[in-house]
Amino acid sequence: MIPVCEPTLKGNELKYVTDCIESNWISSQGKYIEKFEDEFSKFCETKHGIGCCNGTIAIHLALEALGIGKGDEVIIPSFTMIGTSNAVIYSQAKPVLIDSEPETWNIDVNKIEEKITKKTKAIMPVHTYGHPVDMKPLLEIAEKHDLKVIEDAAEAHGAEYKGKRIGSLSDVACFSFYANKIITTGEGGMLTTNNEEIAEKAKLLRNHAFGKLRFVHEELGFNYRMTNIQAAIGLAQMEKAEELVNKRIKNAQIYNSMLKEVKGIITPPKKEWAKNVYWMYGILIKKEFGMSAEKLREELLKEGIDSRAFFIPMHQQPVYQKKDERFPDISGKYPVADMLSKEGFYLPSSSSLTETQIKEITEKIKSIKKKLK
Ligand SMILES: Cc1ncc(COP(=O)(O)O)c(C=O)c1O
Repeated sequence: MIPVCEPTLKGNELKYVTDCIESNWISSQGKYIEKFEDEFSKFCETKHGIGCCNGTIAIHLALEALGIGKGDEVIIPSFTMIGTSNAVIYSQAKPVLIDSEPETWNIDVNKIEEKITKKTKAIMPVHTYGHPVDMKPLLEIAEKHDLKVIEDAAEAHGAEYKGKRIGSLSDVACFSFYANKIITTGEGGMLTTNNEEIAEKAKLLRNHAFGKLRFVHEELGFNYRMTNIQAAIGLAQMEKAEELVNKRIKNAQIYNSMLKEVKGIITPPKKEWAKNVYWMYGILIKKEFGMSAEKLREELLKEGIDSRAFFIPMHQQPVYQKKDERFPDISGKYPVADMLSKEGFYLPSSSSLTETQIKEITEKIKSIKKKLK
């Protein structure tokens, strides 16, 4: 079986984790946390990195650090993973959904302004599957309406927009280090920012808002701390971060060259201003292919090739169909998100994937298509 994604843990991961165990530093203090935060923020070309439990928590922490909460609205794409939207709900703000654009599969920047109200406090673009959002026009809209921008960069480690690293472009960016991410800590998350005030606030809130006087708390904080063990894995990952990113890109190029002549397959987006890091190698299956995305996935599974369907957009989520004032309004139309969800899936995408495996996968796709004739 070729798995859809697995981590690459063949460096100093075991050595550093062993060090945590042998030295008894297994909670949220210890040398690896700051080291990992420093290395990751350097990688993102930002001044500050604030580690936490996971990517969803990173988004919640960012919202809290920016003072976004009850009565506020945050604009997000409907086509995303539910962590984006749920984190807004945890903050007591309301997610406002926007459709995607067909070219990049990201939030349609042209549709943002029509959803801005007096309650809107922030825009949260998601760099879907590793392709950056067109940030310039989005930042201009934010500036015009005095809105904060929080990037959901959970899937975009190492990606670049016009030569600038994702993580450094807005007020604050949020990353996930789940095991399928390009850089992993098992579970984990990080905020990156150039804003000292936001960084300090996030650090305070992630640790129960412990003040100068022990056990005296002036604010509602959280236990959102990262452990030394998570950071130990993260630091070892940072030693090969560029390599992990470059391997994703190289694999995508091999996939592209092998799939380019297959009628009915749309390969992942790549705008000239973007460094897409292809967190996942996603494809769309159009009518001309002769078989639905779902059926093709079933056939590939029979051949020992695992894959994953694209996200189910937020407006289709059963949980949000329930009448609950916390949930987003799902009454609009989101045709691009619907299309992506129906036609898209991702092929095996690990950084450790070999050219031989990619050949095997693409040959299987071609032979499944041939049999249809
Ligand atoms: C776009 C997006 N946002 C948020 C998250 C949440 O991250 P985590 O699973 O670490 O909580 C994910 C996770 O895959 C994601 O893809």
